[in-house]
Formats: sequence, C-alpha cells, structure tokens
Amino acid sequence: MSVQSSEKVVTTRVLQEMKRRGEKISMLTAYDYSTAQIVDAAGIDVILVGDSAANVMAGFQTTLPITLDQMIYHGASVVRGVKRALVIVDLPFGTYQGNSKEALCSAIRIMKETAADAIKLEGGAEILDSVKRILSAGIPIMGHLGLTPQSINKFGSYTVRAREEAEARKLLEDAHLLEEAGCFAVTLEKIPATLATQVAREVAIPVIGIGAGSGVDGQVLVLHDMLGINNEFSPRFLRRYADLYGAINGAVKQYIEDVKNREFPNEKEQY
Ligand code: KIV
Repeated sequence: MSVQSSEKVVTTRVLQEMKRRGEKISMLTAYDYSTAQIVDAAGIDVILVGDSAANVMAGFQTTLPITLDQMIYHGASVVRGVKRALVIVDLPFGTYQGNSKEALCSAIRIMKETAADAIKLEGGAEILDSVKRILSAGIPIMGHLGLTPQSINKFGSYTVRAREEAEARKLLEDAHLLEEAGCFAVTLEKIPATLATQVAREVAIPVIGIGAGSGVDGQVLVLHDMLGINNEFSPRFLRRYADLYGAINGAVKQYIEDVKNREFPNEKEQY
C-alpha cells in the first residue's frame, strides 16, 4: 500500500490554532504554478485561487464569466506548485447558488480535479443549504461576506458594504450562521473596520479581511494588486509592495533595445 509522504504544514486546524494564539494569518491569491511556488516558498499561510482570475488573468470586468473548468485549471496549476500553504479554490458564479446538489457536485469536482484543501463561496443565509450539503461531504469551506463581487449586478457598485445598520446586522448573523454550519473560516471584504472587528471577536473561526481593517485574524490581497502588476486599481485598502508593472516594462524595453542593436545574444549566449 502506498501512502502520501508529503504532509501539508498549514491545515484548517492550524489556522484555528493561530486565531486562538492571536497569531495573524497571511493569505494571497495565486492562479498559476510559477507564482504559487514563489508565494509558497516565501512562507504564506494560505493561497486563494480566487475567481479574481477572471479580472487579472482573463481581463473581464467582473468575476461572473469564469467557469468551473477554468477555476479547476487554475487550481490544479497552483496546487502543483505548493508544498506548505493551505490552498483554497473559489467556487465560481452559477455553480452553487441554484441548488445544493449542484453545489456539492461543483465542490467535489474542485476537490477531485485540483487536489486543493478547501473551497470558498460567497453569501450567507441564502446559500446555507449549499454550505451544509458541501460540508456534509467533508469538504472544508471558507465563507465570504461583505462585498461579494459575484453579486455586483445586485449591488451596482464596488463601494464599501454594511455601513447601514440593517446590512451590518445581517452580516453579523450570516457570520454566525456560517460558523454554526461548520465553515472553518470567513473572508470579510470591504466593510467598516469596527464591524469586522466585532465579527472577529464574536466568532471562534478565523476571520480574514480585505479592506476590513486590522482587527481581524488575518489579511488577504490579490497578488497582482499588491505586486503593482495591475496599476489601474488603487482602492484605499491596497498597499503596493512592488512595482512589477515598471520592472517588467523596463526589462521588456531593454530586451527590445538589445535585440534591435544586435547586443543580444552575445558570443557567450550562443552555441
Ligand atoms: O477572488 C478573490 O480574489 C477573492 C479575494 C478578493 C478575497 O475572493
């Protein structure tokens, strides 16, 4: 009998222990093998194969068009590059909202065909049946509340969510529902920091924020945004840690110049 020899260092249980210890959780997106390898080797705790791939990899305006097959392609590519981090794959729009049986089939395809560790989906009470059915099959789920980009056509804009009391109350209730159902963590996107802090205090599962302030248990950013590959997106919550747009643009310009001036390749760079 053969057993898998390599054990994942970061598991859902490890994340829960980190919350208990007060140790912050780091999370970034990745969509392909090569960048997943770099991000994992740097020591990130969680890699999210986000449906933001629709925006940053494919150039769509929203996350709605990306398909389950495409998410599986990205997910499997990332998993092949990761040794340590927990890998979560987003269930794309239209693959889990309709009915819980379809949701389970989508989640099973992700787990079987990517070998990821968990899935993420957007919403609270309205998708609870799907959440429970997926969890009953032993598939770990990270919830996602606040600004949920798959509902952009309902919201009409990407502005801060849950500023009004009724929406804030619903978000709090949804976070409790997801925790009670058995989700291992929840992402909160673009909501007031005070509300996010309250959620993180009230639930025992890790709360990961993006544009949700510092009072949560961890942070997530889209890799292309924080590396400055995507220069057109500048929300207040985004901190840029590099200017890869400038670095890549400069390198490509230098290459073009070297080719045109016959400086590349030189004698040592040929056979
Ligand atoms: O798809 C994504 O990248 C996400 C993050 C913004 C949390 O869901």
